[in-house]
Amino acid sequence: MNNLQSTTTLHNGVKMPWFGLGVFKVKEGEEVVNSVKTAIELGYRSIDTASAYGNEEGVGRAIAESNVPREELFITSKLRNADQGYEETLAAFEKTMSKLGLDYLDLYLIHWPTPKYGTYIETWKAFEKLYKDGRIRAIGVSNFQSHHLEDIIKQCEIVPMVNQVEYHPRLTQVELNEFCKKNKIQLEAWSPLMRGELLDHPTLVEIGKKHGKSTAQVILRWDLQNGVVTIPKSIKRHRIEENANIFDFELSESDMNKINSLNENKRVGQDPDLFNKR
Ligand SMILES: NC(=O)c1ccc[n+]([C@@H]2O[C@H](COP(=O)([O-])OP(=O)(O)OC[C@H]3O[C@@H](n4cnc5c(N)ncnc54)[C@H](OP(=O)(O)O)[C@@H]3O)[C@@H](O)[C@H]2O)c1
Repeated sequence: MNNLQSTTTLHNGVKMPWFGLGVFKVKEGEEVVNSVKTAIELGYRSIDTASAYGNEEGVGRAIAESNVPREELFITSKLRNADQGYEETLAAFEKTMSKLGLDYLDLYLIHWPTPKYGTYIETWKAFEKLYKDGRIRAIGVSNFQSHHLEDIIKQCEIVPMVNQVEYHPRLTQVELNEFCKKNKIQLEAWSPLMRGELLDHPTLVEIGKKHGKSTAQVILRWDLQNGVVTIPKSIKRHRIEENANIFDFELSESDMNKINSLNENKRVGQDPDLFNKR
């Protein structure tokens, strides 16, 4: 991984950029259009949205207005919890595609397992159909714990290609990362900056000073060196640029160990086993 467009190869051979822009809580309309267009202009090729973010139309507009060919971009969206179920998933996918204005998607994720409803297996079967029909280049899940993944592996045909989970120095997901590696599932970090909570941490500040980098850059570099895809969100041009400027330095083994040791299994988001909101 030596530049912003470097990719990891998923277990079906599809190449996914290691780095991308997240657009959670970015307002539909000018705000999302501007942040996505800025990111693409600065060399980003991967954009992470979701039906639940309510900004797929703006993401689609930014893609259409950018000068980069569609096949050079990697677009991810997610199925909202209320749309789980076989037929519901097929219908929700068409809505997402019409909002994005695209004829294929690069990656589609089940947003949360919502275990109380027991519908992620039939939902996954609809994902398999869409994948086999050539509508999506790769399919995956989000917020799945190892035991949810085990269910899919046992009861379905296709092993998810990606699992997008909360991941940052306070939540290093060691066991889940091992499970995913063993099953060739690419781990992807959401809230990599812990929504800004970690940016004053003295250990990270000190490592940043040594390398002439910001705390955000240190954390995002740590993601990549741990083999985790990362998608920080920003609506500010200077931060979109700063976050991507991480391909010209390397954290030492001792830096990596220091950051790994900050783990407290602490979340900013919901616990996937308990979150069942539809
Ligand atoms: N699958 C899921 O369930 C799930 C859940 C949450 C998030 N996600 C995805 O992951 C993406 C990233 O997570 P996130 O948006 O929750 O949080 P994040 O990327 O950890 O943090 C974003 C926050 O940090 C600020 N920020 C960004 N770069 C900065 C920098 N260099 N210096 C200082 N502050 C900086 C942003 O503010 P400004 O915008 O003002 O710069 C924003 O407030 C989301 O956008 C979404 O695509 C997925």
